[in-house]
Amino acid sequence: MEREFRYYPGLVEISEHAAQYVVDLAQQKVMENGAFTMVLSGGNTPRLLYENLALTRFSDCLPWSKTHVFWGDERCVPKGDSQSNYAMARETLLLKVPLPRENIYRMPGEIEPPENAATRYEKMLRKFFSNAQSVAEDCFPSFDLILLGMGSDGHTASLFPGDPAVEERKQWVVSVSGLTAKPPIPRITLTLPIINQARYVLFLVTGEEKERVFNAIRRDPEEASRLYPSARVRAKERLIWYTNYRG
Ligand code: 6PG
Repeated sequence: MEREFRYYPGLVEISEHAAQYVVDLAQQKVMENGAFTMVLSGGNTPRLLYENLALTRFSDCLPWSKTHVFWGDERCVPKGDSQSNYAMARETLLLKVPLPRENIYRMPGEIEPPENAATRYEKMLRKFFSNAQSVAEDCFPSFDLILLGMGSDGHTASLFPGDPAVEERKQWVVSVSGLTAKPPIPRITLTLPIINQARYVLFLVTGEEKERVFNAIRRDPEEASRLYPSARVRAKERLIWYTNYRG
């Protein structure tokens, strides 16, 4: 795995370059395999990236009909709730691009209890990948691209420091209490084994409050892995950090 750090002045430049990277990768994967699988991140940082992907200059170059969209995590809120990561992606991207509805694999965060939502999504993923690529029972499928953010505590997706979910080794999707999250509500999340099976992972991280954790991860990922789930993320081909830190 190659680990790469790309520094830009701010989120505008990061979102522009990341959008181009996503388009290029989508074209490459569709050419190679006939499909492109992309996992979206939640939070605020990726909003501008999603809005960029909906712009003609990017959207017209992205093979939407052969693109399949998933989520890395979701808050356990009613469907359509403005706090959901799906609602943010729908507003900034999904309503603006010709992505077939059947290619959108929304995390059903509204299902109670959260454990059932996680089980349901894992079943959705297993069904998708059983058609797309053979995945042995105890193995994990490979998404082409996973987009991730990072919190100031070093969490990513909804894998929070000290949460047992960070150590999950078998399930693809689990539920977490989210007590230390913002908002502090239950969530479901992909686990590290399935995240780390992705071919490409892009982190988009900006903001002074995250710089200390970012620098610790860049300086010594092994040591940082003890504290920060983001430090434990790997990719099969390339892991790229897009940040506005001085570097
Ligand atoms: C979520 C996200 C979460 C996010 C980080 C960073 O559901 O909140 O998936 O992991 O990526 O918390 O969030 P910001 O981009 O808003 O700083």
